[in-house]
Amino acid sequence: MYVPPNLITNHDLEKIMDTSDEWIKQRTGIEQRYWISMEGATGSSDLGLEASKMALANAGWTAEDLDFIIFATLSPDIMFPGSGCLLQAKLGLNSTPALDIRQQCSGFLYGLATADAYIKTGLAGKILLVGAEVHSSGLDKSTRGRDVTVIFGDGAAALCIEGIETDANAGVLASALHADGNYAEALMTELPASRLPIRIPPGVPIDDPRYYPVMDGPAIFKKAVRMLPQVINESLEKAQMSLDDIDLIVPHQANLRINQALGQFLKLDENKIFHNIQKYGNTTAASIPLALHEAMAQGRIGKSGDVVLFVGLGAGLTWGSVIYKFL
Ligand SMILES: CC(C)(COP(=O)(O)OP(=O)(O)OC[C@H]1O[C@@H](n2cnc3c(N)ncnc32)[C@H](O)[C@@H]1OP(=O)(O)O)[C@@H](O)C(=O)NCCC(=O)NCCS
Repeated sequence: MYVPPNLITNHDLEKIMDTSDEWIKQRTGIEQRYWISMEGATGSSDLGLEASKMALANAGWTAEDLDFIIFATLSPDIMFPGSGCLLQAKLGLNSTPALDIRQQCSGFLYGLATADAYIKTGLAGKILLVGAEVHSSGLDKSTRGRDVTVIFGDGAAALCIEGIETDANAGVLASALHADGNYAEALMTELPASRLPIRIPPGVPIDDPRYYPVMDGPAIFKKAVRMLPQVINESLEKAQMSLDDIDLIVPHQANLRINQALGQFLKLDENKIFHNIQKYGNTTAASIPLALHEAMAQGRIGKSGDVVLFVGLGAGLTWGSVIYKFL
């Protein structure tokens, strides 16, 4: 995992908009987040590159070993081409296939399910899966945007995923993915828009709200507390498992209250669900792998036979769950 060095506390936000440490902590659990420096020139592929270099070193791989790169982000460096291509070049490669996934907070889940399918069908043997976001350069940092801006942090995390022949029941045991585009406008950034005659409409001021993410927070909150338990049960059924078989739930870190409500609904022990949103905010496609990295570093998960369940919901709407067993 990698986060940029610029630490932004809730008190720092109090200085630029009408908000308070107390409101942010009480409603979201977030205490701080990391943003790239205001000078810019750091895109999602740059954060992804730092995480990728560490993941490759930890796996004992070089970039040349990769058959496939999957890059999940809602904040690509540029409108096109995708950040996967930019990362591939930064890794010193020039022909390895690279796929971008635009599924927001479910990007890692969609990416992991895709990597699993590529491996199980023999299309790839060694895959780099990256989730990375630079939110801070696209947020409305005035009071108008406070509901969204206090939530999001920049960051990246990467996984090296390899297919191995084994008789053990291990690896990705089940995945369940969903989308409901009827809620697309509940969380979106509207401009630039290809559906308009001119993507960047002439005369629209640069601080027009359509250039910034807007969110119907209460609607997303309600959807999350309903859909997350459902999709957890769906993946458990597919894997023919029960919650007792799961050693740790690593959920997307959107709001501590959502994940605490999920824990209460499922009657989970406190130590069966992982939270780190307090330190990083919502890093969207990076959030689940970043939490996985910390859970493994803390020894909460990662031993042979451990089973982890990933789950999340976000813009699209998109949501899903993946169950993974360590070999
Ligand atoms: C965004 C979220 C934290 C807002 O919390 P909430 O309890 O729903 O709060 P509301 O949006 O109803 O706003 C309550 C009040 O706080 C105010 N407010 C909003 N953001 C604020 C901020 N950063 N600081 C201070 N006050 C704020 C609102 O203006 C509103 O004021 P009013 O009552 O005078 O109108 C919450 O809805 C949420 O987490 N939703 C889900 C987000 C999510 O999961 N997104 C998908 C993944 S990206």
